[in-house]
Amino acid sequence: MRIVLLGAPGSGKGTQAKRLVARHGATQLSTGDLLRAAVAAGTPTGVRAKAAMDAGALVSDDIVLALIRDALETQGVRDFILDGFPRNTAQAQALEGMLGGLGQPLEAAVLIDVPEAELRRRIAGRRTCRQCGAIYNVYTAPSRADGVCDACGGETYQRADDTEATVDQRLATYRAQTAPLIEWYAGRGLLRRVDGTGAVADIDAALERALAG
Ligand code: AP5
Repeated sequence: MRIVLLGAPGSGKGTQAKRLVARHGATQLSTGDLLRAAVAAGTPTGVRAKAAMDAGALVSDDIVLALIRDALETQGVRDFILDGFPRNTAQAQALEGMLGGLGQPLEAAVLIDVPEAELRRRIAGRRTCRQCGAIYNVYTAPSRADGVCDACGGETYQRADDTEATVDQRLATYRAQTAPLIEWYAGRGLLRRVDGTGAVADIDAALERALAG
């Protein structure tokens, strides 16, 4: 499996990527998760990325492309679900070049489509496990005990960029820089669209149908 999950902040890319991984065994490559880990560890990459992430802007392409290059070319990941990458045309072109060089072209780019009001509600309620990355939502999918991950017992937290002001900027960044990729992938015959509203399991099933079709 070599796919991209496209969608606005809060559309469910991470939630669905984890379910695809559980079924298909592919590797989830989330640039957001990789960057947050770098910030938490205080690495040079994290130090460079933090200001852009806090502002709801994109981290520079060279940082993000180095993370993807490391996974594909150094670690040799061949079966993957890209979550949150690419996020602009330059990144999509670089990905196409990398995969072309490896003789492993992308199979599909799946857009998870969710209206903006719903995105805001989902982001406001999101909680994430610091330890295993499991995703919860205080409104729609709470953990059994408040602040404690069901899967590993780790602490759940609210992401620093899930504030109202940052969300406005993240949505604007998405509209300006990432949404054009919908047409970009449509032009290559790779785009699949999935309605991202409704129950997680139903979206999951729609995603599988889109990938099979
Ligand atoms: P990133 O971590 O990629 O954030 P994002 O794209 O804003 O996406 P989110 O993680 O917010 O949402 P999601 O679609 O994964 O939704 P989720 O499944 O969690 O990026 C963060 C920052 O890093 C960026 O702003 C940028 O600065 C930087 N960055 C990352 N990649 C970059 C790149 N390639 N280039 C440059 N910079 C980059 O779901 C959201 C909530 O909704 C959860 O609580 C979940 O439980 C709930 N939910 C999910 N599905 C449903 C459903 N069907 N019904 C009800 N609730 C649901």
